[in-house]
Amino acid sequence: MSRLVIISNRVAPIAEGKASSGGLAVAVLEALKKAGGGIWFGWSGEVLAETQSEPNLFRTGKIEYATIDLSIRDHDEYYNGYANATLWPLFHYRLDLTEFSRRTYSGYLRVNALFASRLAPLVEAEDRLWVHDYHLIPLAEELRKIGLSTPMGFFLHTPFPVPEILVALPNHATLMRSLCAYDLIGFQTNADRDAFVHYLVVEAGAEMLSEKLFRVHGRTIRVEAFPISIETEDIVKLSAQAEKARQAERLRESLKGSELIIGVDRLDYSKGLPERLLAFQALLDNYAGNRGHVTLMQIAPPTRSDVAEYQEIRQTLESLAGHINGAFAEFDWVPIRYLNKSFSRRNLLGFFRAAKIGLVTPLRDGMNLVAKEFVAAQDPADPGVLILSRFAGAASELSCGALIVNPYDIEGVAENLQRALSMPAEERRERYDAMIEVLSHNNIDVWRQRFVDALDQAPYTDSV
Ligand code: F6P
Repeated sequence: MSRLVIISNRVAPIAEGKASSGGLAVAVLEALKKAGGGIWFGWSGEVLAETQSEPNLFRTGKIEYATIDLSIRDHDEYYNGYANATLWPLFHYRLDLTEFSRRTYSGYLRVNALFASRLAPLVEAEDRLWVHDYHLIPLAEELRKIGLSTPMGFFLHTPFPVPEILVALPNHATLMRSLCAYDLIGFQTNADRDAFVHYLVVEAGAEMLSEKLFRVHGRTIRVEAFPISIETEDIVKLSAQAEKARQAERLRESLKGSELIIGVDRLDYSKGLPERLLAFQALLDNYAGNRGHVTLMQIAPPTRSDVAEYQEIRQTLESLAGHINGAFAEFDWVPIRYLNKSFSRRNLLGFFRAAKIGLVTPLRDGMNLVAKEFVAAQDPADPGVLILSRFAGAASELSCGALIVNPYDIEGVAENLQRALSMPAEERRERYDAMIEVLSHNNIDVWRQRFVDALDQAPYTDSV
């Protein structure tokens, strides 16, 4: 029987309703459950003196997990190095932060080859492989070298840069050639897809066979946008219950009637957090009536803390939040609650529901599922307002109801905060209705099904 084999850098077996492990982990787990089981392969999250020779195998229900531990050197060159100090900033248009190093590139290729050699013995001829994210671009090519001819799909969770940015990468041609060893390549938005297609045609000499099919490097590949989404119905139900949970109650009590603006992001420079705090400061400066009556709660759990840029952004935010609080706080009100920790999904949903505004202002983001979760968590009778960056993938679906902003325009974001704070309930409901309609049509099931259906059609002819 054909099984779904999912490969991602991090493997996160999560207890239902417990952890908030991010969009990728939730999406993968859902995909495997809906497929009636399968394999999830990747890095265990452990770093040891030596890379382990055999994968750790364990099973939960119908899902088999196969994980490998990485050596300090592999982890440093592959994860901290090429994935997170080269591809991540480059794909988020931060050439100024992008490190170019032959050493980390060869570590990245070595770990992809290692993944392939450990994965190949677990794969059966009828299986379909679904590989996730920028850590594993060369994986299909490595698997094909070993002789695997099974259908292989790749989904990129980050943005994909326009060719003018991508070609700054010294090995762009080799890296993109290896991406073409997949049969199906999926992106978050049409803009990301178009950027890749543009690269394929202009830089790789691809021939366009149809809207979705391309002939390049001797293979036929399918390229398409599959905007990732959330478990909309579950979140709607869960958040109605979460509202009554003790933590949400405590949050509301602690606000003492002041309006809540909420932001929830990994502590990453792509999320526009300094600009967000400055916009909140501009709200207090330009609309002084809000002083004492509005609180920004920014939840920002630290990640990738071995990478220098992540240490810097953490320091920047600490000093900015301290500065703004020092300038505006009163004996009975603190403007910014800045929390470097993560919360359970249930608590987050309760917090979203208590908020008047969800402030999601990344400088660049693949999708941003926090924006979608914030909407689904609202009380339909008295919903909060979503303020969303035009540079988040989610903006292409939620512009029907969100206030769309340019996060670089600090005064403009402050203006939109003021607009949201004084928005009549009827307008808030209309905006919510439009967005929840979109999210009930494109939920996580639809995303998974569309990708798997497309993968099932591989290998492709020119008729799609
Ligand atoms: O969405 C991009 C992504 O890199 C995912 O691959 C990952 O699940 C998430 O961000 C968290 O990143 P990390 O595993 O580096 O903490």
